[in-house]
Amino acid sequence: MASQTLNAILVVGPTGAIGKALCEALISQKAEFKRIAFFNDTSRPATEEKQALFDEFRNGGMEQVSGQYNDTTSFAGFDCVLMPLGNHAIKYQPTIIDSAITAGVRHFYTSEWGADLSVGSNWTQRYYQDKVITREHLEKRGRDADTLDLGWTYIQLGRLTEWSIIKHFGIDNTNHVANIYGTPEGRQSLLPIKDAVAYTIKTLKHPFSTANNGHRRTYRFHGSSPTWNEIFNDLETITGHKYAITYHDVETAVEREARAKRLNDVDLELEASHQLIQGRGGTLLPEPYVNGLFPDIHPESVHSVFERIFQDPELKKFIGAP
Ligand SMILES: NC(=O)c1ccc[n+]([C@@H]2O[C@H](COP(=O)([O-])OP(=O)(O)OC[C@H]3O[C@@H](n4cnc5c(N)ncnc54)[C@H](OP(=O)(O)O)[C@@H]3O)[C@@H](O)[C@H]2O)c1
Repeated sequence: MASQTLNAILVVGPTGAIGKALCEALISQKAEFKRIAFFNDTSRPATEEKQALFDEFRNGGMEQVSGQYNDTTSFAGFDCVLMPLGNHAIKYQPTIIDSAITAGVRHFYTSEWGADLSVGSNWTQRYYQDKVITREHLEKRGRDADTLDLGWTYIQLGRLTEWSIIKHFGIDNTNHVANIYGTPEGRQSLLPIKDAVAYTIKTLKHPFSTANNGHRRTYRFHGSSPTWNEIFNDLETITGHKYAITYHDVETAVEREARAKRLNDVDLELEASHQLIQGRGGTLLPEPYVNGLFPDIHPESVHSVFERIFQDPELKKFIGAP
């Protein structure tokens, strides 16, 4: 069976952290692709900031596709849809997949760029609920007789380094206080966003065939897997501030999650779920890693990323540092 690569790419969720970085990377390599485009979801607010970003993408050579997730025509002519959607939009992926399949798309990058969902208790965690539903949906459609050629790519990396030290994970970089669910020896796998995106773009051009399920791919890219102790040592060296750290029994996050659910506070529920996943070691990426497929990418060290964050006003703001 002939091998193929992905050449006509549509990014759904282009204004998010990952989406924007993916669009910028596609623009920088546009000569490699037949068609690169971003999806403007017309049901979402059209802010000035968003319009400015869309201008930037169009000026860079991307096509703008405007519509809604159930419009099949918007997806016509693409061979791959990337879906870097935020927490509140991940649930729309089955709709996007169905519309795009009707339009002829046969490959999807789902909203992953995180942990291996099959590790420990990840599969049943609240934070991963809509990611799991999406995978199950793809796998179901992939069993349909008329879409046996349906393929997908899951990019796994653990945690993005820049995200590891934000309030969501209990770290207050203004007052140098941290509340961590887990232990000082607890590890997580960290990869910076620019390397995660560089690897993702490489995989688009990584040939595959539909023989032996070669069109249903999982890539595990590993940066490093530091302990909380190592992370705080780095933070303290870089900022010159001692962090007051309290380690909580990870299982108490179960009650935090239940309380957030009772309050109907989805963001708090996702935060508690994430802390539970983290504390139970769910973001530690299991081997084997496949970095060796793309040896020209050398993931930046955690220390170097943290140094860069504390020198960049926008990144400092992102992690809540003054
Ligand atoms: N492993 C990690 O540490 C890590 C860290 C970050 C992200 N990720 C993963 O990467 C993926 C993308 O995350 P991200 O942080 O880049 O996403 P994000 O910035 O939160 O959002 C991305 C996109 O989602 C759309 N969106 C947000 N809320 C929406 C809603 N209520 N309805 C419809 N659309 C909505 C936004 O569209 P509009 O422009 O229309 O608002 C935006 O284009 C997710 O799977 C996430 O889990 C992993």
